[in-house]
Amino acid sequence: MTEEIVKTALSKVMYPGFTKDIVTFGFVNNIVINGTDVSFTCDITSSAAEVAGQIKDESTAALKAEGATNVNCNIKAPQMPKESSSQGKNLAPQVKNFLMISSGKGGVGKSTTSVNIAIALAAQGLKVGLLDADIYGPNAPRMMGLDGVKPEVTGNKVMPLKAYGIEVMSMGSLMDEGQALIWRGAMIMKAIEQFLRDILWSELDCLVIDMPPGTGDAQLSLAQAVPVTAGLTVTTPQAVSLDDSRRSLNMFKKLNIPLAGIVENMSGFIAPDTGVEYDIFGKGTSQPMADEFDTKIIAEIPIEPGIRTGGDEGKPVTFSNPSSESAKRFAQAAASIWATIEEINANGGVDNKGVQPTTPPGVSACSTAAAPAPAKEPEGESCGTGCGCH
Ligand SMILES: Nc1ncnc2c1ncn2[C@@H]1O[C@H](COP(=O)(O)OP(=O)(O)O)[C@@H](O)[C@H]1O
Ligand SMILES: [Mg+2]
Repeated sequence: MTEEIVKTALSKVMYPGFTKDIVTFGFVNNIVINGTDVSFTCDITSSAAEVAGQIKDESTAALKAEGATNVNCNIKAPQMPKESSSQGKNLAPQVKNFLMISSGKGGVGKSTTSVNIAIALAAQGLKVGLLDADIYGPNAPRMMGLDGVKPEVTGNKVMPLKAYGIEVMSMGSLMDEGQALIWRGAMIMKAIEQFLRDILWSELDCLVIDMPPGTGDAQLSLAQAVPVTAGLTVTTPQAVSLDDSRRSLNMFKKLNIPLAGIVENMSGFIAPDTGVEYDIFGKGTSQPMADEFDTKIIAEIPIEPGIRTGGDEGKPVTFSNPSSESAKRFAQAAASIWATIEEINANGGVDNKGVQPTTPPGVSACSTAAAPAPAKEPEGESCGTGCGCH
């Protein structure tokens, strides 16, 4: 038995849920061989017991097939995130952490970031879901290669779709393609609540939520429905985009959502032929804003044609081209986000009690508001106060 044989045998053991093996991921360390006895450590990133069990079983079988008699596979897994540290209303209690991805305006790469961060978190061994809550412009189905795939519905519950190792749900998968819905305040709240309550998400380490652009009813509804663990803002380097992003960061503050940082997207351009990096919209211009909000730029993602084609073709760059510069930066950003989430949990988690509607149950904010409510409102329409009474 040699180290070479051990490594070759272990490279047949896939990391559960992925197409990459535990040797390629760099998890296998401290190989000690004593005759036909083999021991090694496997530093995995998932705290799920079933992941450790599967790796142990498959490694033992793979090594025994090569002649090993005793196999000691010492799994080193991270601590489970503190599940109950977050408090307040939670419509999806099986989800341990919620990451809200926002931007001041559309077209800055919020969906691209959401998709790639979600896949990068899963590549770290976490159980991840992606909720495309951009009800005005749902992009996740196309970007995840799930265009036209209809989810399975049982009663009033919906199974999330699966792609690239993560669970996915989007309004785009529930409506006919290209169909437009006109969203009113109360409908937005209902849709957000249904996404959390009526989608059968598994026990997830993290649900990544791609929000509609701006700071409106969807953001407030989400913050009221679940304790959002952290917020991420996506911006482009131009001043006009930064102005809008400030609003997005201020919104997180008002909703008591801790910041996971800022992704500066379209930050420079990497020419595919030469690899030379050019400034197009500027670069690094978000730093003063990060300082102002006491947060950090966790990634500068360059303009790379592969990001756009990856999005259009449903093959996100993080998965299809993990050695590209942008994939590496998305992976770093995901690691930074997860470190922040773990720190937030270690410090007691989050609480959304402070952002709940203020009127007692059963009492409408409309009836207590200074301005009298309209005598009769059309069915399903909000009074516009965000009171949630309709
Ligand atoms: N860094 C990038 N390089 C190249 N294309 C990008 C990059 N970021 C986003 N795009 C493309 O720009 C378009 C808008 O991005 P998208 O993620 O849909 O923005 P948003 O969700 O903020 O509206 C998409 O076609 C996407 O593929
Ligand atoms: Mg989008």
